[in-house]
Amino acid sequence: MEEKKIIVNNICCIGAGYVGGPTMSVIADRCPNINVEVVDLNESRIDAWNSEELSNLPIFEPGLDQVIKRTRGRNLFFSTNISEAIAKADMVFISVNTPTKKKGLGAGQASDLKWIEACARQVAKFSKGKTVVVEKSTLPVRTAEVIKKILGSYQIINENNEKEFCVLSNPEFLAEGTAIDNLENPDRVLIGGDDENSIKSLVNIYTNWIPEKKIITTNLWSSELSKLAANAFLAQRISSINSIAAFCEVAGADIEEVSKAIGSDSRIGSNFLNASPGFGGSCFKKDILNLVYLSRYFGLPEVADYWESVVRINEWNQKRISELIVKTLFGTISGKKIVILGFSFKANTNDTRESPAIRISKDLLEEGAKVVIYDPKVKSSQIINDLEPYSSTENCLSTQPHKNFIDGTWCFSEHLEDSFDGADAVVVLTEWPNFATIKWSSIANRMRSPGWVFDSRRIVNEKDVLSSGLNYWSIGRKYN
Ligand SMILES: NC(=O)c1ccc[n+]([C@@H]2O[C@H](COP(=O)([O-])OP(=O)(O)OC[C@H]3O[C@@H](n4cnc5c(N)ncnc54)[C@H](O)[C@@H]3O)[C@@H](O)[C@H]2O)c1
Repeated sequence: MEEKKIIVNNICCIGAGYVGGPTMSVIADRCPNINVEVVDLNESRIDAWNSEELSNLPIFEPGLDQVIKRTRGRNLFFSTNISEAIAKADMVFISVNTPTKKKGLGAGQASDLKWIEACARQVAKFSKGKTVVVEKSTLPVRTAEVIKKILGSYQIINENNEKEFCVLSNPEFLAEGTAIDNLENPDRVLIGGDDENSIKSLVNIYTNWIPEKKIITTNLWSSELSKLAANAFLAQRISSINSIAAFCEVAGADIEEVSKAIGSDSRIGSNFLNASPGFGGSCFKKDILNLVYLSRYFGLPEVADYWESVVRINEWNQKRISELIVKTLFGTISGKKIVILGFSFKANTNDTRESPAIRISKDLLEEGAKVVIYDPKVKSSQIINDLEPYSSTENCLSTQPHKNFIDGTWCFSEHLEDSFDGADAVVVLTEWPNFATIKWSSIANRMRSPGWVFDSRRIVNEKDVLSSGLNYWSIGRKYN
């Protein structure tokens, strides 16, 4: 007998984070006939998603506010009422966090699946009728098996057997900072599964705005592994170019020239070839370490070592930047004022997870520097968490900049212009576009001489820095 077509009228997404929020907003925008409810345990996050003032949304993404404006209250809803949203849904996306395990078996590498397991149990308990369960979170290969087992066991407990589940993998490939554009015009959508009708029901959602030829369907395990592999390849490229940037600095080559030369080869391509302090964000490191863990688990230690080196180079690269700053500032930065420009892990996001700015700021604080931090989108409360146990000095930017500013502490600068008084060095860590247009001539005389600008993103106007009498270092170039 032919299976019945699955019609999706109600979607529930568990997890209102950097993936759940933007992804569901775009689905609601492009599918006005589908009711989309995004639920989360975190009440303050849900409140922020519901805030009248769109600048208070919990996530900054260009274009997100406009999508929310069109959809919220129409067919997009944010709530903490998880059980009710699951009960109503024909399709449940699981979009919760899957961080690296901190302790126990696989600590430091394997993904902690406790939030995934909790979701599976919630879906099992509250769902009604046939429910398509979609893994949106990035998961270790074969996690669908775990979800199926939890859902299946519940099916048996309920003897009336009124529940039926099907699990699909639909990893998210959006990049923070360009999430809305990526969701509206993705390179591809990947759907893994073994139930034709369920796959079709998800394909039908995406074809509301995405050409069918961009939708790739695979088996569950290929889909789960493809997400880990894609992130590993992207991160590997960043470590590769950063390793060559370090080489340029000793060999007298210039990383911009090398990137252009190698990127012109169509087999290599020009994307992701900018030298930087390293990759950050919640995913790259976590996903590679997960791949490393799984490789060892499946008896492939050489494969594990290969991918682990991508993470090692990333950590080494951040360390070498902090060391270079200390060495350049005559071997000591104790009591020196150093301005960090940019704290998010890349431009156009307020996300600081695994941001190289955290490691580098901590290194400078450990050396006793007075660190001033400016970022156009990151809040000081976030930096307080990130720089634990180093404390902040309040009001360090008030009328007397050096008063009360203790060595080895940091302070937050609300305004870019207020950051530079008495500074010995400025370190650019995030490629926010406004850092490219800083007028160094009006800043140099407010800094202490000899002043330095360290440009780890190659975005600063070098000529302007040098003509202002400041010294300049940029990543991937030799300086004598
Ligand atoms: N951030 C990215 O750029 C990105 C891109 C692609 C894929 N991913 C993957 O997507 C997943 C989510 O990432 P994120 O950045 O959105 O994480 P996040 O931490 O921003 O959001 C996860 C949310 O899930 C909520 N949550 C956890 N357990 C819950 C439960 N049982 N019930 C209800 N809510 C619960 C948390 O409160 C949190 O708000 C991860 O697996 C990540 O690897 C992230």
